[in-house]
Amino acid sequence: MCGIIGYIGKQRVAPIILEGLKRLEYRGYDSAGIAVINKNKVSVLKRKGRIANLENLLKKRQVSGELGIGHTRWATHGAPSTKNAHPHCDCSGRIAVVHNGIIENYQELKRELEKDDYRFKSQTDSEVIPNLISKFYKGNLEKALREAMKKLKGSYALGIVSADEPEKILAVRNDSPLIIGLGKGENFIASDVPAILKHTKKVIYLQNRQLAVIEKDNVDISDLEGNKVSPKIDSVSYSIEAAQKGGFRDFMLKEIYEQPAVVSKILSQWVSPEGNIDFRDIEQIIIVACGTAFHAGLVGKYVLESLVRIPVWVDLASEFRYRKPIIKKNTLIIAISQSGETADTLAAVREAKKSKAKLISICNVLGSSLTRESDVNLDTYAGPEVSVASTKAYTAQLMTLYLLALYLAKLKQNLNKDELKKAISSLQKVAAAQKKILDKNKDIKRIARKHLHFGAFLYLGRGVNFPNALEGALKLKELSYIPAEGYAAGEMKHGPIALIDEYRAIVCIANDSPVYDKMLSNIQEGLARKGKIIAIATQGNEQIKSYVKEVIFIPKIEPLFSPLLTVIPLQLLAYYVACLKGYDVDKPRNLAKSVTVE
Ligand code: F6R
Repeated sequence: MCGIIGYIGKQRVAPIILEGLKRLEYRGYDSAGIAVINKNKVSVLKRKGRIANLENLLKKRQVSGELGIGHTRWATHGAPSTKNAHPHCDCSGRIAVVHNGIIENYQELKRELEKDDYRFKSQTDSEVIPNLISKFYKGNLEKALREAMKKLKGSYALGIVSADEPEKILAVRNDSPLIIGLGKGENFIASDVPAILKHTKKVIYLQNRQLAVIEKDNVDISDLEGNKVSPKIDSVSYSIEAAQKGGFRDFMLKEIYEQPAVVSKILSQWVSPEGNIDFRDIEQIIIVACGTAFHAGLVGKYVLESLVRIPVWVDLASEFRYRKPIIKKNTLIIAISQSGETADTLAAVREAKKSKAKLISICNVLGSSLTRESDVNLDTYAGPEVSVASTKAYTAQLMTLYLLALYLAKLKQNLNKDELKKAISSLQKVAAAQKKILDKNKDIKRIARKHLHFGAFLYLGRGVNFPNALEGALKLKELSYIPAEGYAAGEMKHGPIALIDEYRAIVCIANDSPVYDKMLSNIQEGLARKGKIIAIATQGNEQIKSYVKEVIFIPKIEPLFSPLLTVIPLQLLAYYVACLKGYDVDKPRNLAKSVTVE
């Protein structure tokens, strides 16, 4: 949520900031801006809308300077507008700040500052920050920031520059992610690695409540009490190419097509989880996550209960954190998150840890807050996921959950050697099967074109594929803005069947499984009410063709593992509907990739 970038070095700063902002645009795209320090002056340029608008402005109004900060915004307080765009300056225009997060007590701070004659230009919470720093400024920016932080409540990652101290960037993190990139004679700050990957692979993941003073040849990090900290320097394992489109029309299609490689990589990299958890003692599991990762958690429940035979609860992280959950001794918490920075998931995890629960995370970003706070992290090896709608991270989360379930089942002696071997062999066939489905993209595009104008969609599934019905509906609504609902097919007759008429498109996941006959009955109930059915079925199922005109076939697979396949046509269907409607699939309206605010 919101992207921050900063640069100090010997090169012209504006192009570097602009390029970094483009790579961070997935974090928010309501407005963008840049502040550059030159000749003891702060120049700020900002524009409502996409980075391209800022780029056009920068073509007309060149700014020179070798130190600056930039921001791409996802609006929380104050509408998307040029005025509300970051960077925000203090009244004197000497201090500029970019902010990711929410200042919860900004109204109170604003009132206090207004009494002292500070005037505000925007409706944002963020504008109190430069003014508060300015109020405390007596010739030492770092000291003023520390004073200001004592007053600020909420989550924030900040980049701060001042015309009065034009040789440094200050950066601080409190519950919102921030990294420092280390170059030669130049250094960077950023919300995320892809923003600076072109320049350096050496990064410091700033820890919570740490403050960094960044000069072109030096980085000093300290805690809030001012004690020096020696940071761990990490080396980013993926290349700039992995964070680029690689010939695809957009990131989403590229990421959908990467799935076979990702699931294969997870299988090849799998090692039994290590850490201070004794998995033998676990008596129940609670999975917490949001959005697509929550749907992966729901699949995880079916899989873990079926293979490990211990009770599993799955909770939306945003609900879990506020409902006084009962966490017993020997409860394992599994947190699932692509980014590892989702505010609700982190808060849920912190809530759980108060009860001394053991925490395992399934996360795609090593070094993220979630991986640092977990007892054990299972890397999902999906590489950078740039498109706002999650695709490859989802199947990566599923594959990781399958392997974790098999590991626990072996430990609990629920599976013998042969059963385990058979399961692994099924999982090894997934990548090839996914490729076969991807090869049907033309068919799926044709179906998308045919159903483009339906005003609403229903997605139905049963058992382990019920969560994929939710996921299919989520993908369609977030990308194409068509109302879509996912249901457990057995629930239809308890209410939702009233929705069906000739204007309803119904996507039914009806692969071969113990619940296939039940799904077929649901399909017939839909047809009887003139619903337009699109079925996902197993190759070789001739019967379904006599009922349903539009069938997308998937290769045969062990039913428990089928969500790894059935989700692919759902992703492609949503993708093509949105593309054909002319929408920006990588950046759907109102959304941002990392939801770092509540
Ligand atoms: C939907 C989507 C979101 C995320 C959710 C959690 O396509 O991407 O629903 O799944 O915001 O994000 P992470 O996994 O980063 O915690």
